[in-house]
Amino acid sequence: MCGIVGYIGDRDATPIILGGLKRLEYRGYDSAGVAVLDDGQIEIRRDAGKLSHLESLVNDMPVHGKIGIGHTRWATHGEPNARNAHPHIGSTGEFVVVHNGIVENYLALREELEAEGTEFKSDTDTETIVHLVEKFFAIEGNLLDAVRRTLQHLKGAHGIVVMSSREPDKIVAARVGNAGGVVIGLGENENYVASDLPAILEHTRKVVFLESHQIAVVTKKNVKVIDTDGKPINTQVQRIAWDPVAAEKGEYRHFMQKEIHEQVRSLTDTLAGRVDFDAGRVTLHELNLDAAKAKKIQKIIITACGTAAHAGMVGKILIERIARVPVEVAIASEFRYADPLVDENTVILAISQSGETADTLAAMEEGRSKGGILWSNVNAIGSQAMRIADGCISMQVGPEIGVASTKAFTAPLVDMYLLAVYLGDLRGTLDPDQRFKLVNDLMGIPSLAGVCLDREDEIVALARKFMNMDHMLYLGRGINMPIAYEGALKLKEISYIHAEGYPAGEMKHGPIALIDRSMPVVALAPKDPWYDKMISQIEQALARGGEVIAVATDGDERIPDLTDNIIWVPEVPWLLSPVITSIPLQLFAYHIASLLGLDVDQPRNLAKSVTVE
Ligand code: M6R
Repeated sequence: MCGIVGYIGDRDATPIILGGLKRLEYRGYDSAGVAVLDDGQIEIRRDAGKLSHLESLVNDMPVHGKIGIGHTRWATHGEPNARNAHPHIGSTGEFVVVHNGIVENYLALREELEAEGTEFKSDTDTETIVHLVEKFFAIEGNLLDAVRRTLQHLKGAHGIVVMSSREPDKIVAARVGNAGGVVIGLGENENYVASDLPAILEHTRKVVFLESHQIAVVTKKNVKVIDTDGKPINTQVQRIAWDPVAAEKGEYRHFMQKEIHEQVRSLTDTLAGRVDFDAGRVTLHELNLDAAKAKKIQKIIITACGTAAHAGMVGKILIERIARVPVEVAIASEFRYADPLVDENTVILAISQSGETADTLAAMEEGRSKGGILWSNVNAIGSQAMRIADGCISMQVGPEIGVASTKAFTAPLVDMYLLAVYLGDLRGTLDPDQRFKLVNDLMGIPSLAGVCLDREDEIVALARKFMNMDHMLYLGRGINMPIAYEGALKLKEISYIHAEGYPAGEMKHGPIALIDRSMPVVALAPKDPWYDKMISQIEQALARGGEVIAVATDGDERIPDLTDNIIWVPEVPWLLSPVITSIPLQLFAYHIASLLGLDVDQPRNLAKSVTVE
């Protein structure tokens, strides 16, 4: 997971940057680098592998200077090697950039720049940024406007930090969307820039968090923040408490809110190192698969509990549709006693954030004892479900503290999609055009998640309106049916409001009896193959006097005629729509619980890891 650190002041920048990067090491990365302005020249040291490699490189070839930027990279475009490691330098050697996020239109930008004569030295999307900065500096004559103009050309969500020997007294940092944060640390005659607080907390507790579409010009004596239109912003300096827990929460009230907001980044990291957008391919090395092994698989049984089981239900649809392998979903606490039909051609795939859930581990053991192949999709590194599996797709979301799982729900949705494409490719069920399309559809997912997060205020308004309800019914169909289950689970576990998730088509077989004004219906009705069916479910609920909150795709013209309570989500290919529809429901549950003044991160009776039966 990419990390950024920058320093400007009177001290030697290199050890400060390396120290900051070390504090972000726990997030995982595959290469690292640092750029320092040394005697007016930008000097870069970067290498694949761990920070210790970079440290040795810096020991062998020292760089000293009072301004510098550094990065730990988790590869998205191009191999994790020294050439692709950040920082990236432009053609003139005068501009250097580090970046978190994905430049979604990098291919078009690269072609444009190459046509103008720019030579690329790496395979990364990030290199387009530095060439654009260089190009616009030549026109604008100053770094800030060059960065502003560059941002206008980039699609996607980004955290970007730029340094230039042409303006050696400043670092320019920008945030667009939610590709992780950008935080400015304030010191005495020195200032810092970072993607995450822990990188700079040993130096300062006074910080400014950049909002989306803000740019900071950081000199050693001051920090000026403007928006991307160039308007000055009055920033609020925050003092971070010494309490390490409060410090880790940063700008958010609760870990759950922080984790919801981390999803642009966790989704970016989920793609990193696995998706080759140029080749239109997915590779999950962790499964040690080849075509012969993949073709032998006759059935996959996904086993999990709670939120993880809901991710598994989406996974079933994805794997069956894309890879054409039959999939069953088994609730782990039932599977262990079900005397399941498993043989050596059956894969038992356990999904678990903690990797320590007793029921899930027991289900894995059951599968193993019957001769099945064990795979897992786990977040907690080194956990039992990771260790005992034959292959593990690790979730790339970092620690999840809030008991209500959020970023560890959307990551397995994408992991299941990746698995489906990988299996489909190996088993020959996907033609190259389909494969390219499926892979290409992934590119925009992190920034679409960011679009959902940018609409948080609209969700807060709905949360205020419905926070005093005693019951809610969540309805969905097809690939969004599990999201109805998940939305309801999120609400009940943190707000203690009774909520039921139901397949919308089943409403008329019973739950419709409950519908009246005191039982609002949350209806998932994005533009997917079940859209028309969902419209008629909404009409049926309205006909019984129910109040409907609809999750609808931007531009939908039918839903506004039915209800005023609409959660708008951006348009997305339907196989990926659960990633996008689940995020506003996480926010809805979060804000209701938070408005009710409840202990969001540690709801009553619940544990983060359920290690008992
Ligand atoms: O660690 P696991 O993913 O195996 O946990 C499974 C469930 O206990 C967990 O998802 C639970 O449902 C969460 N509290 C949901 O937010």
